[in-house]
Amino acid sequence: MSADGEPINVADYERLASEVLDPGALGYFAGGAADERTLRENVAALARWRLRPRVLVDVAEVSTRTTVLGEPAMPILVAPVAFQQLAHPDGEAGMARAAAAVGTVMCLSTLATARPREVAAAAPDTGLWLQLYCFRDRGVTRALLDEAIEAGFRAVALTVDAPRPGRRERDLRSGFRLPSELSVPSVVEATGARDPISVADILRLVDPALGWADLEALVADSSLPVLVKGVMTAEDAVLAADRGAAGVIVSNHGGRQLDGVPATIDVVGEVADAVGDRMEVLMDGGVRRGTDVLTALALGARAVLVGRPALWGLAVAGEQGARRVLELLRDELELALALCGCPVPEAVSRDHVRRA
Ligand code: FNR
Ligand code: LAC
Repeated sequence: MSADGEPINVADYERLASEVLDPGALGYFAGGAADERTLRENVAALARWRLRPRVLVDVAEVSTRTTVLGEPAMPILVAPVAFQQLAHPDGEAGMARAAAAVGTVMCLSTLATARPREVAAAAPDTGLWLQLYCFRDRGVTRALLDEAIEAGFRAVALTVDAPRPGRRERDLRSGFRLPSELSVPSVVEATGARDPISVADILRLVDPALGWADLEALVADSSLPVLVKGVMTAEDAVLAADRGAAGVIVSNHGGRQLDGVPATIDVVGEVADAVGDRMEVLMDGGVRRGTDVLTALALGARAVLVGRPALWGLAVAGEQGARRVLELLRDELELALALCGCPVPEAVSRDHVRRA
């Protein structure tokens, strides 16, 4: 915290968020699957990379601007995170306005507490993507996608790492259920009910039979570029490229699904080597510092997404808090670029990092 009591980094926001959230919600937001090895490893592995700065490069002007799928953005996007009104009444609309304030993209969850058209109306300047969970009830999924397309969303990220809910032991211990006063439109449409429901039961709405042919069908009948979120191997990245995906998001769902998979930072390089010349490679998981963003860019990511950091900002101070977290990460990235001798994100290369 600063001398006048203001949070100055993501860790400060995380601490403050843990003080304001009620225990059940905090456990849901912060937790991971099983022993939380992967949850911890996402952060720990980033700390094992070292930077190799180049000097005497003119960095009088440094820009954090880039493009992602052709859209202007900074290389730090807002990851899809469910139930944002559980963190703060500003919810997804506030998060989207925070993203607009820093000129970046927000990916809205299928399990949002606001409709795509409401979020688009509340934040008309935000580049919005829709995260898609393909429900067993394809009618609900199709209606959500159509609404997003009509509302001007620019891409779809199909999440493929949750054919079943991960074993979230914090939720089992707390008995966490989504309060009935929070409305999740997609869930209401799929279940017809508004009773308190567990996250595991919600994730059981997702079709576990989804296969590569379904990705191909989505690419064929969606007018938007499709990203595959939750790829953890070069093999699957190649299949995604072969099926027409516009990109992959290397992600282990923030350590919330299969415990025991590697940190995403230790996988992004293999994926970028395999498909980086065919599609955009993004990454999420454990990014807490501007230098983490730079490391991911060096290993071949076009951009990263942040889940919990922006959520902690939202929990602490609504839209303003989320905006502040995104500004802090942007400013840290700008400093890291300058000190590594990279005037723009595209100047970051694999030679700028090595494993400790
Ligand atoms: C998520 N994530 C997620 N992913 C997704 O595709 N759809 C979703 O609805 C959600 N919901 C969700 C809720 C919460 C509370 C968290 C923490 C995460 C995963 C998210 O998009 C992203 O992959 C991770 O959050 C990235 O890790 P960090 O940045 O939280 O470490
Ligand atoms: C989660 C789901 C909703 O991680 O994606 O909680």
